[in-house]
Amino acid sequence: MTSTDSSAASTGAQKPAAKDPWDLPDISGLVVGVLGGTGDQGRGLAYRLARAGQKVIIGSRAAERARSAADELGHGVEGADNAQCARRSDIVIVAVPWDGHAKTLEALREELRGKLVVDCVNPLGFDKKGAYALKPEEGSAAEQAAALLPDSRVTAAFHHLSAVLLQDRTVEEIDTDVMVLGETRADTDIVQALAARIPGMRGVFAGRLRGAHQVESLVANLISVNRRYKAHAGLRVTDV
Ligand SMILES: NC(=O)c1ccc[n+]([C@@H]2O[C@H](COP(=O)([O-])OP(=O)(O)OC[C@H]3O[C@@H](n4cnc5c(N)ncnc54)[C@H](OP(=O)(O)O)[C@@H]3O)[C@@H](O)[C@H]2O)c1
Repeated sequence: MTSTDSSAASTGAQKPAAKDPWDLPDISGLVVGVLGGTGDQGRGLAYRLARAGQKVIIGSRAAERARSAADELGHGVEGADNAQCARRSDIVIVAVPWDGHAKTLEALREELRGKLVVDCVNPLGFDKKGAYALKPEEGSAAEQAAALLPDSRVTAAFHHLSAVLLQDRTVEEIDTDVMVLGETRADTDIVQALAARIPGMRGVFAGRLRGAHQVESLVANLISVNRRYKAHAGLRVTDV
C-alpha cells in the first residue's frame, strides 16, 4: 500500500469507484453441463449456448439418451450420463423436473463439489384452475439445491424462458431478460455473462437465493399469460 492509499484508508475519505454492473467476465472458455439435458428446457438451453460458441455437455440418467439428443442438437454438443456431465463441466445447469430435483442433486454431491450450479427448476403444481406455485420446505428449489450441495456455488437463473422458442431454429434472438440470483457477485456475474452469450438475452442480478421463491413462482403467472394470449412470454426488467 502506498502512503496515499494508507491515508485514504485511514480517513475513509475515498470510496473505490462502484463496479460497472455490465462489466462481466469472459466465460467463453468454460464448459457448461446441463443435467436433465434431454428435456425441452435442457435441450433448448444447450442448443442456444452451443450455437453461441459455448462448449456444452448434456446429461441424462442414461448416457445413450444424452448422446443421441446431443447428436440431434449439433454445434459440438456432447452427451453423457449426469455424473460424467457434472464432473466434466465448470458450470452445471440443473434442468430436471421438480419431482426429481432433490434425488438428482443428492446423488451428484461429489461431482458438483466446487462447481458453479445454476438451478432453473420451477416447483409448480397444476389443477383445473391452471398452474400454481409449490412452496418447498427449504423456501425454493434453489435453496433446496444450496442445502443439498454445501460445497457447490449455487445460483438460480433461466426460470422464465420458453423452451419452445429456445428450440426453434428459425428464431434468431431470444427477447427476454434472465433474473440471476446468488450469494456472491463473482458467481452471479458469471451467470449473467452466460445469459448474455445468447443473442437478445440479458442476465440481470435479482438478489440472494432467499428471493428465489418469487422468481420460481412467477412462472405460474407466465403460464397463465401464455394460455390467454397463445404466446411464449418472456420478461424485461426496465430502466436497467
Ligand atoms: N420447459 C420449459 O419451458 C421450462 C422453462 C424454464 C424452466 N424449466 C424448468 O426446467 C426443468 C426441466 O423442464 P423440462 O420441461 O425440460 O422437463 P422434462 O422434459 O420433463 O425433464 C427434463 C429431463 O429430466 C430427466 N428426468 C425426468 N424425470 C426425472 C427424475 N425423476 N429424476 C431425474 N431426472 C429426470 C429426463 O431426462 P432423462 O430421462 O434423459 O434422464 C428429462 O428429459 C423443470 O424443473 C422446469 O421447471 C422449464
